[in-house]
Amino acid sequence: MDLKQHIRSIPDFPKPGILFYDISTLLAHPQAWQATVDRLAEAVMEHKPDILAGIESRGFLVAAPLALKLGLGFAMVRKKGKLPGKTIPYTYDLEYGSDTIEVQADAFHEGQRVVLLDDLLATGGTMKAAAELLRQSGADVRAAACIIELTFLKGREGLDIPVTTLIQYDD
Ligand code: PRP
Ligand code: MG
Repeated sequence: MDLKQHIRSIPDFPKPGILFYDISTLLAHPQAWQATVDRLAEAVMEHKPDILAGIESRGFLVAAPLALKLGLGFAMVRKKGKLPGKTIPYTYDLEYGSDTIEVQADAFHEGQRVVLLDDLLATGGTMKAAAELLRQSGADVRAAACIIELTFLKGREGLDIPVTTLIQYDD
């Protein structure tokens, strides 16, 4: 199954000059989506996680079915102000301004092995921030996995964990 055939590219979204890789068509195709989840599961299992973490919002689509398939729990990395109770925030720089993500303070036990999931690795800024946040909350971040990687942005070079991606775009 060639998963790339199920990704739609949409020019000039969300801004002129940006080519957006849309996973809606992959999600809408049950066999392609099943193959995606199966392949990610294989990669994730190697790291023997105790729990998975998904990054809001498209990372939830990836982490939730994987957690079920692997019989693991799943924790949400959310944008600021969305999670109830005590949370741990992490603020990181963007091209313009900054962003804050958080997890619930009791989401991870000390030393718990976590694999991080998202749909796409671009600059790697989101994944890097999530990994730092999870470390601050006591987790042992073992690896990351995404469906798509924009290799020309070299996001993985800024990460100190192994990253598996299923589909790469080189330009
Ligand atoms: C997109 C994508 C990744 C992130 C990748 O999320 O889903 O999470 O950007 O970019 P980076 O590697 O340069 O950090 P977006 O912020 O568009 O939000 P969404 O998942 O809620 O749609
Ligand atoms: Mg996202």
